Amino acid sequence: MIRPPIALALRAMNRFFTPEKPLTFSGKGAMIKLADLMVRSGSKRPLIVTDSFLLKNGMLNGLLDFLKQEGCDATVFDGIIPNPTFAVVEEGVAAIRKGRCDSVFAVGGGSAIDAAKVMASASTSKKPLDKLAGILKVDQPLLPFYVVATTSGTGSEVTTAAVISDTKTHKKTFFVDPKYMPIAAAFDTGLLVSLPGPMTAGTGMDALTHAIEAFTSRARTANTDRDAATAIRLIVEFLPVAYANPGDERAREMVALGSFLAGNAFTRAGLGYVHAISHQISTHYNTPHGLANAILLPRVLRFNKDACSERFAELERMLLGSTDQPYAPDQAQRFIDRVDTLAETVGIPVNLDDIQQKDFASITKDALAEARSSYAVPKVMRKGDVTKILESVSTGSWAVNFA
Ligand SMILES: [Fe+2]
Repeated sequence: MIRPPIALALRAMNRFFTPEKPLTFSGKGAMIKLADLMVRSGSKRPLIVTDSFLLKNGMLNGLLDFLKQEGCDATVFDGIIPNPTFAVVEEGVAAIRKGRCDSVFAVGGGSAIDAAKVMASASTSKKPLDKLAGILKVDQPLLPFYVVATTSGTGSEVTTAAVISDTKTHKKTFFVDPKYMPIAAAFDTGLLVSLPGPMTAGTGMDALTHAIEAFTSRARTANTDRDAATAIRLIVEFLPVAYANPGDERAREMVALGSFLAGNAFTRAGLGYVHAISHQISTHYNTPHGLANAILLPRVLRFNKDACSERFAELERMLLGSTDQPYAPDQAQRFIDRVDTLAETVGIPVNLDDIQQKDFASITKDALAEARSSYAVPKVMRKGDVTKILESVSTGSWAVNFA
């Protein structure tokens, strides 16, 4: 069964609203190149949005020295926390007003980037913050906004969305608008090499999930296919290298670029059941997003195998470097086996110990509702399918019997 309205809505959004990818800088020193661009573009008083860990560990020293040399009066906001709240955004906006900031420069993972997007918007808006939540609610141009991504997974540096936690309702609030796309983004290998192993694995598998869900979405386009396929190629080759050799700058850069391309694909084509289920698991058990996705991905690939056999086979032939080979059904299973092996290579566990049977009904209901309202999935799940996946995540193996 298909759901054309969602696919059509996503296609319309892609066509009429989504801007081009931001300008990017990558490699050692990319953060300073990005700062140079910001200064040359006229910024004199940037707000640097980051977390206290990066600041305390001296990761921003080079940036702050550079801005000082350039005569800039930077304000540093280091109050970013995982799952940033409305209060964090309000503090950032207050810092922008106090420092009379003329741009926003985020350095961090998805939390810093998302919070900075909404700060850059709320500081120029005539609306209160809660009225900016939702789709296409931004009423004014953002402050010029730049991003240094220090993890490689969320793709937030190239998406038109931000997620902020509402401590009153305990729900994640989505802010979606094409104006949230940054002007430019940097992937600085000098920062990326510091990412710990479990975060490298989880964020890398999250990026792979973005690419595969975009590649199998009913809202895909020729451009999202190209970016998703390139992302899959880069992540499959270089994620194990970055995990085994954290200091390998080439592998770090390639995984970061793969994550960027995956983000560009999914912000246009949408996601699927891995994200629909993992969001609920993370809400219940605080499971890191990338880890939850990594555990679910091999199961959801098996659910989609019949509907996506030719798509998976195409990816397998691409990874083998033999795109002129004819389609054969076993190529799809070989692609799924390849994802299992990649997950095991980067230390992803087969099961999630925290998950509890008493929560299955609520996780299933919310996951199906999220997918129904947001994603153009290739094949529709029923309650029993989600339950089988959750049982398998609790005690089973990668393989799930959906019969
Ligand atoms: Fe994700």
